[in-house]
Amino acid sequence: MAKENLGIILLGVTLLLLAETWAQNPRKRLSPPKPPKAQCCDEVRSLKVQVANLTSLLEELSRKQETDLMNVVRQIMELDKQNRQQETRVTEAESKYSEINNRVEIMQLHTLQSATKSSSDAIYDCASLYSKNYKISGEYKLPKDDFLGSPELNVYCDMETNGGGWTLIQRRKIGLTSFNRDWKQYKSGFGSIRGDFWLGNDNIFRLTRQPSVLRIEMEDWEGQTRYAEYGFFTVANELNSYKLFLANYSGNAGDSLRYHNNTNFSTSDKDNDKCVDHCASLRKGGYWYNCCTDSNLNGVFYRYGQHMKNSDGITWYGWHGSNYSLKKVEMKVRPVEFQP
Ligand SMILES: *[C@@H]1O[C@H](CO)[C@@H](O)[C@H](O)[C@H]1NC(C)=O
Ligand SMILES: *[C@@H]1O[C@H](CO)[C@@H](O)[C@H](O)[C@H]1NC(C)=O
Ligand SMILES: *[C@@H]1O[C@H](CO)[C@@H](O)[C@H](O)[C@H]1NC(C)=O
Ligand SMILES: *[C@@H]1O[C@H](CO)[C@@H](O)[C@H](O)[C@H]1NC(C)=O
Ligand SMILES: *[C@@H]1O[C@H](CO)[C@@H](O)[C@H](O)[C@H]1NC(C)=O
Repeated sequence: MAKENLGIILLGVTLLLLAETWAQNPRKRLSPPKPPKAQCCDEVRSLKVQVANLTSLLEELSRKQETDLMNVVRQIMELDKQNRQQETRVTEAESKYSEINNRVEIMQLHTLQSATKSSSDAIYDCASLYSKNYKISGEYKLPKDDFLGSPELNVYCDMETNGGGWTLIQRRKIGLTSFNRDWKQYKSGFGSIRGDFWLGNDNIFRLTRQPSVLRIEMEDWEGQTRYAEYGFFTVANELNSYKLFLANYSGNAGDSLRYHNNTNFSTSDKDNDKCVDHCASLRKGGYWYNCCTDSNLNGVFYRYGQHMKNSDGITWYGWHGSNYSLKKVEMKVRPVEFQP
């Protein structure tokens, strides 16, 4: 449009100039006589030149205009492109932002879950189940917990004894399961959770990472019961040979685990005891053997009649001496802070 306007203006200017030339002509006719032919042709030539000049000017101008227009169009296109690029960048930024936002939300969720899991809401033993109002003794499945690094685990909960909330780590009562097993089996556990079993050294390690109480309940072949309780009980990890640490005995069975305090765990295939003898082989179990025993709760189950003839039975020196194999034993743990 600018080009057209300019064209009209230039055409206007040309016409004006032509009109002026025409207007001058009569005056020139009045001027002193000149050869008319020559005058006529000179004027026409001059006009022609002027017209040519104007035309070339017009062409030049229009070319310039066109270039300008092209430039403007190019600039507009450039701006448009930039705009689009900016828009793309904005879109990208937006999507990144929402992605980050998403991630933040996921992180918050994880934090929330972690926070939940690290609080008393987490279910990682029978005490937390008890706190959630599961107050009937029996078998429970503890959920897998990534935060604590613990797998899904079947446990037996004693929800009655002395306030409940106990997670059983061992039981002897039926006598059909051999406890003379290797390191790997003691590590992961064996037996039946409703019958005789060892929960597994890795699981005991995890359970006792929180300050824990150990309670050992025993029954002899006359139906009498006794117990030993340690106000502090913990087991090291496998790298540290599941070393035992105990403190603060109480009970009526005698302090027969003290002798095993600060000793590593031994099995038939791993002699970590403090003896020249191989205690695990002699006592036929996996245990924190010293040199060798004051108690042997993972020893051989001897039935009534056989229960006083051997030193590799389920013994607790503090109650029935070194050759009396008990009828029933349960070992259970509970957090120190647990309040029924
Ligand atoms: C035509 O234009 C040129 C410059 O573009 C100028 O030098 C010349 O004098 C002009 N001629 C006339 C007749 O206006
Ligand atoms: C043993 O009990 C005493 C008195 O209750 C307490 O101060 C101490 O911390 C306990 N020891 C351990 C290792 O828990
Ligand atoms: C217990 O085992 C660790 C390695 O797990 C070892 O360094 C340490 O000496 C052992 N302690 C005893 C008393 O055998
Ligand atoms: C076990 O040994 C530790 C020292 O390592 C000691 O503090 C604790 O009282 C001992 N436990 C018992 C029951 O004697
Ligand atoms: C325990 O049994 C062993 C044989 O297994 C025997 O040599 C030892 O004298 C017995 N000890 C007691 C106190 O009865």
